Amino acid sequence: MIPITKPDIGEDEIRAVEDVLRSGYIVQHNKTREFERDFSLYIGTKYGIATSSGTTSLMIALKSLGIKEGDEVITTPFTFAATGNSILYVGAKPVFVDIDPKTFNIDPDLIGEKITEKTKAILPVHLYGQPCEMKKINKLCHDNGLLLIEDAAQAHGAEYDGKKAGSFGDVSCFSFYATKNLVTAEGGMIMTNSEETEEKSRMVRDHGQSGRYIHEFLSYNFRMTDINAALGIVQLKKLDSMNKKRAENADYFTEKLKNLDWLETPFVPEKMMPSWHQYTLRILEGKRDKFWEHMKENDIQCMLYYPIPLYLQPFYRTMGFKEGLCPISERISKEVISIPVGPHLTEPDKENIADTIKGFA
Ligand SMILES: Cc1ncc(COP(=O)(O)O)c(C=O)c1O
Repeated sequence: MIPITKPDIGEDEIRAVEDVLRSGYIVQHNKTREFERDFSLYIGTKYGIATSSGTTSLMIALKSLGIKEGDEVITTPFTFAATGNSILYVGAKPVFVDIDPKTFNIDPDLIGEKITEKTKAILPVHLYGQPCEMKKINKLCHDNGLLLIEDAAQAHGAEYDGKKAGSFGDVSCFSFYATKNLVTAEGGMIMTNSEETEEKSRMVRDHGQSGRYIHEFLSYNFRMTDINAALGIVQLKKLDSMNKKRAENADYFTEKLKNLDWLETPFVPEKMMPSWHQYTLRILEGKRDKFWEHMKENDIQCMLYYPIPLYLQPFYRTMGFKEGLCPISERISKEVISIPVGPHLTEPDKENIADTIKGFA
C-alpha cells in the first residue's frame, strides 16, 4: 500500500528526542523556546507560542483576542472540525461563507454580505496548503475593523505574493500533527506580532497564570513538551527541502494527468506558492466514490478531505444549520479526493499512482 502520508523522521530527529530524554527536562523548557524562536523567524512574525495541538492554538488565539459569547466569526465550512469548534469553544458563532470552486478556499467576494455588527473576526483556512486570497481578505478586515486569524494548520512554508502564510493575521495558527508538512507528533503554534497577544496567549496556555500560582482567569494546560519541540527544531531545518519534493511531485502529477476530461488537477493562482500539504483532485461526473474504490483496489491510499461541509456535521445540525447554506462546498465535498504527494514517494510510486489514475478511465 502506498500511504497517503508518512512522517519524514530520520536519525537527527531520533537523536534530538533522545537528548531531551537524557537531559531530564522533558516538559516545556528551553527546547520549546528555541522552537518558538526558530519557527517565528521562519514565518516572519515577532512571536511564536508553542501549544499542545493546532486545535488548542486556535482556541487560545480566539480567547487571547477577546472573542466571546455573542460575537460572530466568519470562516469556511470546507475545513477540519477544529476550525469551527474553536469558535464555538469560546462561545462565539461561526458564520460560514462558501468557497471558490477552483481554489477550495473561502471566496472573499462572498464575505462582505455576511458581515454584521456582531462580526469580530475573519478566520480563513489555507486549505491543502494553498494560501487564501489575502489581499482581499486583509482589505475586508481593515475596512470593517475586524481581526484576522489565519488557520495555517496545513500551510507551513506556503507563500502569497512572496510572503509566508501565517504572517498576515493579527494571529495565525499552525498544527504539527503527525500528517503535517512539519511534524512534532502532536503540537501547534500561535504566531503574532503583538506583545499583548503573546503575553495573553502564554497565560491562556498555562492555566491563566500571570506568575507562578497566580491565576487571573479560568484556563487549562495547553503546553507543548520539549520532546515535541526537539522534533520540531530538526523538522524545520528540513521543511523547505521536504516542501520542494512535494512541489516536484505535484508538478509531476499535474503534467501526467492533464487532458483527462473527467478530472481536474489543482489550480494554483499566479501569486501563490502552495505548501502542497495535499494534492487534491476533483473527480467529475459523479464518479468520485468509484474512483476511490479503484485506487484502494490498486493499493494506493487516498483520502477525502472533507466529505461533509462542517455545518452539515451531526453536531452542527443540532444548532439549526441546514443543506443549501453553501452550495459550492456541498458539491465540491462530493468531488474531491487527495492522492499521496509527500516526500515519501519514490519515482516508481509516482509512476504507479499516475498510471493507476489514468487506468480508471
Ligand atoms: C485546517 C485545520 N485546522 C486545524 C487543525 C487542528 O490541528 P490539530 O490536529 O493539531 O489539533 C487541523 C488539523 O488537522 C487542520 O487541518
